[in-house]
Amino acid sequence: MANIVIIGTQWGDEGKGKIVDLLAEFADVVVRFQGGNNAGHTMVVNGEQTISHLVPSGILQGKLCLIGNGVVVDPGVLIEEMDYLSGKGVPCGPENLMVSERAQMIMPYHKEIDKARETRMGKDKIGTTGRGIGPAYEDKATRLGIRFVDLIDPELFRQKLAAILPEKNFYLENYFNAAPMDYDAIAGQYSAMAQRLAPHVTDVSVVVNRAIAEGRKVLFEGAQGTHLDIDHGTYPFVTSSNTVSGNACCGVGVGPKTIGGVLGVVKAYTTRVGAGPFPSELFEEVGAFMQKKGAEFGATTGRPRRCGWLDMVILNNAVRLNGLTGLAITKLDVLGGLKTLKICTAYRYKGRMMDTFPASLKVLAECEPVYEDLAGWDEDISGIDRFDQLPDNVRRYLDRIEELTGVPVQIVSVGPQRDQTMVLANPLG
Ligand code: GDP
Ligand code: IMO
Ligand code: MG
Repeated sequence: MANIVIIGTQWGDEGKGKIVDLLAEFADVVVRFQGGNNAGHTMVVNGEQTISHLVPSGILQGKLCLIGNGVVVDPGVLIEEMDYLSGKGVPCGPENLMVSERAQMIMPYHKEIDKARETRMGKDKIGTTGRGIGPAYEDKATRLGIRFVDLIDPELFRQKLAAILPEKNFYLENYFNAAPMDYDAIAGQYSAMAQRLAPHVTDVSVVVNRAIAEGRKVLFEGAQGTHLDIDHGTYPFVTSSNTVSGNACCGVGVGPKTIGGVLGVVKAYTTRVGAGPFPSELFEEVGAFMQKKGAEFGATTGRPRRCGWLDMVILNNAVRLNGLTGLAITKLDVLGGLKTLKICTAYRYKGRMMDTFPASLKVLAECEPVYEDLAGWDEDISGIDRFDQLPDNVRRYLDRIEELTGVPVQIVSVGPQRDQTMVLANPLG
């Protein structure tokens, strides 16, 4: 299979970074198609951890890494990340890292508005990452956004900023009682960044399509997770982009026929950062056990992640919405030591069984998870590198996931390191 999309099936942090880094070995190009630096993708290679927020997770494998038009990019964060990676000896020059000229930029007022809104919403807040993601996508849709193609044209950039800033300042000052932002300060800061980034700005759609025509393999790296999708997730407790596989085409500029497969990354249990419904959430010892053993703290904001059992209603929702052709099950090692494991197979709503995910959060709040019990295991599986050496109960857990989804498990991850992984079938074949 030539080109694949890798997406998160739950609420993010499934281990996409690790899986993309692993599979990048078999790809030529890795491209991000949505989200921004709300993402935190962790790679661990030879004991050294690297977290990337914007740069695709193929960078450690030395692959061509691209940021597509569907991503909202904070140029300051991109530069910081390039410096962080270069400091680790990872090349990040214009020959291996490029950003789409059509990608929207996150501006300082986007971050201010994001944070001010959350503060104002108080207990009803979404729990955003405060990185300006929502306000940047808003401006894209209202056609007030500033793109990289504008950044690298100093005159156009100043014109666009001058046109939009009064409106943003009016909103900041009069609605949020916040300080206005200074035109000259922003213009100066962004023009310095423009000089640094200009050599990296390109037409990513042309680059990707050319690579495909030359027979090279492309890996489309998703951020967030299916249930944070702006249309299909737990709206309004979602992010502001489409996180599902279909958006790989729009967010890069390729046709649907270029996609050969979709790998869904599934954490062996469920986590969520930020507010919003989570039917299989655990509040007592088991949740605390998962959080501690799985080190469930956000890679972007450091916030503790809420934990719960694996939920097949959401997983099957992800199977359908993304057209999954394979699963990568991560963090299986974390479940070791639990006597009984539960899988949520359906929801009970007003006495009725439901196996599809409701659109209404009111309905969802009244859904009670229906569980099936499976025997757990005590063994530490983090050092196992052959599938047939996994304890029987681990294999039963994986078999059950396959049965309930009808999708083959292609990858099993038993630790954060790149080599703590079993590839049963390589999706890039
Ligand atoms: P992403 O956003 O989907 O890339 O995931 P994150 O990097 O935010 O969070 C996943 C966390 O789990 C990171 O700390 C990874 O190093 C870690 N991780 C990934 N796979 C495994 C695994 O199989 N076992 C354990 N114990 N940790 C893992
Ligand atoms: P990766 O790619 C987990 C969550 C935030 C919040 C909601 C909206 O690492 O899996 P936003 O800042 O996007 O407006 O916040 O989405 N969120 C994530 N949760 N992993 C992520 O990315 C996330 N990106 C955003 O916590 O609930
Ligand atoms: Mg993450």
